[in-house]
Amino acid sequence: MLRSMDAEPRPKRYAAPRGAQDVLPDDWPWWRHVRDTAERVCARFGYRHIETPVFEHAGVYLRSVGAGTDIVEKEVYLFEDRGGDRLALRPEGTAGVMRAYIEHGMANWPQPVRLYYTAPNFRYDRPQAGRYRQHTQFGVECVGDGEPHIDAEVIDLLVTFYGELGLRDFTLKLNSIGDQNCRPAYIERLREHYLPRLDAVCADDRVRFEKNPMRLLDCKEERCQPVIATAPRIANYLCDPCRHHFEAVQTYLTALGIDYQLDDRLVRGLDYYTRTAFEVQPAIEASQSALGGGGRYDGLIELLGGPPTPGIGFGTGFERIILNLKRQEVPLEPESPPALYIAPLIDEAVPVALRLADDVRAEGVAVIVGSAARSLKAQLRHAGQLRARNVAMIGRTELDGREVTLRDMELHSERRVSMADVPRAITH
Ligand code: HAM
Repeated sequence: MLRSMDAEPRPKRYAAPRGAQDVLPDDWPWWRHVRDTAERVCARFGYRHIETPVFEHAGVYLRSVGAGTDIVEKEVYLFEDRGGDRLALRPEGTAGVMRAYIEHGMANWPQPVRLYYTAPNFRYDRPQAGRYRQHTQFGVECVGDGEPHIDAEVIDLLVTFYGELGLRDFTLKLNSIGDQNCRPAYIERLREHYLPRLDAVCADDRVRFEKNPMRLLDCKEERCQPVIATAPRIANYLCDPCRHHFEAVQTYLTALGIDYQLDDRLVRGLDYYTRTAFEVQPAIEASQSALGGGGRYDGLIELLGGPPTPGIGFGTGFERIILNLKRQEVPLEPESPPALYIAPLIDEAVPVALRLADDVRAEGVAVIVGSAARSLKAQLRHAGQLRARNVAMIGRTELDGREVTLRDMELHSERRVSMADVPRAITH
């Protein structure tokens, strides 16, 4: 139960919660670059925007992400609302989009349905560089076609996106983790391999052995590496349809000129995956910090109560992308400063200044209006701090003559211009 506001001891000042960050105006050009690039690339691939709620009925995530996963066991923000509904903040994008696919009868739309989103996600993770409790993902989902060329399309979209952002030196890792036909036999073999070695592996692995054996392959502990190295390999256990699918995906990626590394230890942290799984590792980040990842989830819609429907997608985090763009010193287009600063020097000039500002803005130009309560010197200093190219000063004389004194801040020149001519004077 929440304590009332009054009972809360009042700290002197608040900081953002641990693992949550502010995006300040100076950060925004990076965020806009990522968002705009995502939108542009998606439009070219025919993916349409979808937005789902930030919270869902808890079961949407608990059922689909899977009981033995870190997300469900340790990270999902669960709460009961005032009406007693059990809800969860979105920890990842796919499950909510699938819920929407079912709810809105998208199975009756032309298939496959190609969707994308950019949205915040919440995971009670241990915060560190590139790992936050609120992060934003760009994700795509292609639902309703199980053919391998769709896998290649989705990966192509991701690689094209990174390329257009200006990211270099990333590695695409690729695996097939089989399906409900062949994976159970593989998991059996994996368990047989681990059973006599359980004393040699870490405590987490002993839990994974019970709850989520595929994740054993992903353990980063030093002492578990020899056991992983000798573990049976999923590639040898794929059934014929999964193997053919995987071979076709590789053929198409090669045809597209997309480099990839096969990695049969790549298992992903969510339970809904079948067949193709992939991750992109940046050049510098540690191995657990993938830039993006995804895969096929052919059983997920059925798990959420819909008809059997194949799907595939990826998610990639804005924060990690921006970290890597900055590390690689990818240049951004500089933000343009205001073209005009209007400095009213007396109170009567304020309404005229406000009107003039709107007239100039109507030409598509950024204008800042100063304050008559500040001296001319202070307003000029302010205009300089904002890097405004021109300052229009309006005092008594200018007001009477329906003029401004226009100062070019770079050339340090001044001239009188009629108010009607200001837009032209500053844009030419
Ligand atoms: P995921 O691998 O859990 O997959 O997350 C995708 C990406 O989100 C990661 O590669 C990373 O860039 C970013 N990310 C995840 N957790 C954090 C965090 N705590 N802090 C910062 N960034 C983070 C999914 O979420 C799947 N829904 C992807 C998908 C879509 N699969 C199929 N369709």
